[in-house]
Amino acid sequence: MQPTCSLVLLLSGSGSNLQALIDDLERNNHPGRLKAVISNRADAFGLTRAREAGIETHVVDHRDYADRLAFDRALMAVIDGYHPDLVVLAGFMRILSATFVAHYRGRLLNVHPSLLPKYKGLDTHARVLEAGDPLHGCSVHFVTEQLDGGAVIAQASVDVLADDTAERLALKVHQREHILYPAVIRWFAEGRLRLNAEDAMLDGVLLPPSGKMIDIT
Ligand code: GAR
Repeated sequence: MQPTCSLVLLLSGSGSNLQALIDDLERNNHPGRLKAVISNRADAFGLTRAREAGIETHVVDHRDYADRLAFDRALMAVIDGYHPDLVVLAGFMRILSATFVAHYRGRLLNVHPSLLPKYKGLDTHARVLEAGDPLHGCSVHFVTEQLDGGAVIAQASVDVLADDTAERLALKVHQREHILYPAVIRWFAEGRLRLNAEDAMLDGVLLPPSGKMIDIT
C-alpha cells in the first residue's frame, strides 16, 4: 500500500476548486487525505462545502491581526496542527509573507487564472480581453516569495472567442482548473512531483518554464 499524503487547503471564496479536489479524492485509491479547510472569511461558501464533506474547518480572519506577519503566524499555527505534507491554495485571496512561504517551501501549491508568467495579480479575464489575447488559461505552480511566481507545474489553455465576456472566460477557465489542479495534487500525493531548487520536477524530469501543457477540452 502506498503511503498517504495529508493535505490542508486554504480558500477565501466559493471553493469550486475545493469541490473538484474532494470529488477526485474519492476516486481510484487517492493517497491524499484532506485534513482541514481554512478560510480568512467566515462567509466563504467553500467552508460549507467542506463541512458537507465532513472535513474540519477553521476561520482565521485577517482583520483580527495587527499586520500580515501576525496573521500569517496564526495561520501557520492552525495549519501545522495538522502536519500537512502539502498546503493547497485554492482561491485564497491574501498575499502571504516571506516567512509563511519559506516555511512551506516545496509543499505549497497555488492555482492562478492565467497562463503565467502573463497576467499575475487580479482581474485576469478582463485584462486578457482588453489586451486582445487569443489565448488564456490557468496555471498551477509552487509558491515562492514573488506574487504568482514560483515554478510552474502545469497549464491548460482556453481559446478567447470574439464574443467572450470576462464572466464567460472565468467559467471556461474554472472548468479547466477543476481538472488541472486535482491532477497536479495527485502527482504530488503520489510522490511524483517535487520542487528541485527553483524548478519543478515530475517523475525525475525537470519541467519546462511554462510547466506541462495539459489539453482539456
Ligand atoms: C480560481 O479561479 C483561482 O484561479 C483564483 O480564484 C478562483 C477561486 O475559485 N485564484 C486567484 O486569483 C489567486 N491569485 P473557487 O473559490 O471557486 O475555487
